[in-house]
Amino acid sequence: MTAHDERNSTLRWGVLGATSYIATHLMPAIAATPGCALTAVASRPERAAAAAELGRAFGATAHPDYATLLADPAIEAVYIPLPNTEHVDWTLRALAAGKHVLVEKPMAMDEDGCARVEKAAEAASRTVMEAFMYRFHPQQLRAAEILASGEIGELRLVRASFAFRIESGSGNIRLDPALGGGATWDVGCYAVDVPLLFFGQAPQHVSARLSSRPGLTVDSSAVATMDFGRGRSAVVDYSIDYGPRAAYELQGTRGTLMVRNAWAMDGEDGVITVLTENGVREETVPAANHYQRQVEAFARAVRNGAPAPMSLTESRRTARVGSALVASAAVGGVAVDTSTDTSEAR
Ligand SMILES: NC(=O)c1ccc[n+]([C@@H]2O[C@H](COP(=O)([O-])OP(=O)(O)OC[C@H]3O[C@@H](n4cnc5c(N)ncnc54)[C@H](OP(=O)(O)O)[C@@H]3O)[C@@H](O)[C@H]2O)c1
Repeated sequence: MTAHDERNSTLRWGVLGATSYIATHLMPAIAATPGCALTAVASRPERAAAAAELGRAFGATAHPDYATLLADPAIEAVYIPLPNTEHVDWTLRALAAGKHVLVEKPMAMDEDGCARVEKAAEAASRTVMEAFMYRFHPQQLRAAEILASGEIGELRLVRASFAFRIESGSGNIRLDPALGGGATWDVGCYAVDVPLLFFGQAPQHVSARLSSRPGLTVDSSAVATMDFGRGRSAVVDYSIDYGPRAAYELQGTRGTLMVRNAWAMDGEDGVITVLTENGVREETVPAANHYQRQVEAFARAVRNGAPAPMSLTESRRTARVGSALVASAAVGGVAVDTSTDTSEAR
């Protein structure tokens, strides 16, 4: 195939792992994207029936294991929604097989993993992107536009708060430390990404307090601060103990911008509230499928040979900050003597 043919041909995707989330979000997004085709899906051998069922539903080939899918010459791009501990390994294997890769967040749970992916992507001349779907929703682009317009002044403080509850004993991979579970490397990725996205850099200093619900062996809630220098800070919290929340605020020298639900799904409008000395105004951003927009953006980067919209430099930064949060929690804060506190709620 010539470079011209390749640019104009359909991007054929394979998916590693057959889960209900994939079936209801990413697989329909790939199938619906012009210029993309959902060509194959694979499960681990013991779950072959799951891949076969999804294959039938989407008219895709079901491969008996992940390695067989990677060896399929019909596949050009793979989407990797495996447990966190599997992301780096399967991304490297996919690159070695000559595939482009869209890998779920976190790309890696340390900076070294991202660096290895970056090196392999360069060597293979293939596109790799970490799947931060929320970045592709127009409400995040609109928030960036409002910030750039100067309406809220210069950005000084980012507050990001992300949570959804996972019940103990549910068997969810997020509760299993051996699979990279815990709030920090799951919902925490979003809370960390928001200030990095809007400040466009890593913080110079972080301080986190992680806690675990009784009976869990992973972190399940966190509160953290980040110092970006020159009076710029972030306050983030994230949890798999609390009810749903995916809100953030950008506070500048002249006002504040609030995004009510950064995870606005299909059919749900985005709502941005802007508060300044001139009063309060609300903007509605029409509903959009950020999963499909993510797939479209990735496919464009692959076909045009352009940089992926979420760069590997950004992925390295996110992994570095996530690791720093965990390390800071281990160091601990300063204890306060509560022995003279008369409150019954102590
Ligand atoms: N961006 C988003 O909106 C979003 C939403 C949900 C999840 N995610 C990300 O997607 C990834 C998977 O999350 P999920 O909720 O889809 O998890 P899940 O439902 O448990 O699915 C994970 C899949 O990984 C495969 N797998 C391979 N080794 C495994 C092992 N040792 N134990 C369990 N499963 C294993 C399984 O596929 P087979 O059995 O078919 O081989 C399994 O179905 C995570 O990185 C998560 O952060 C992103």
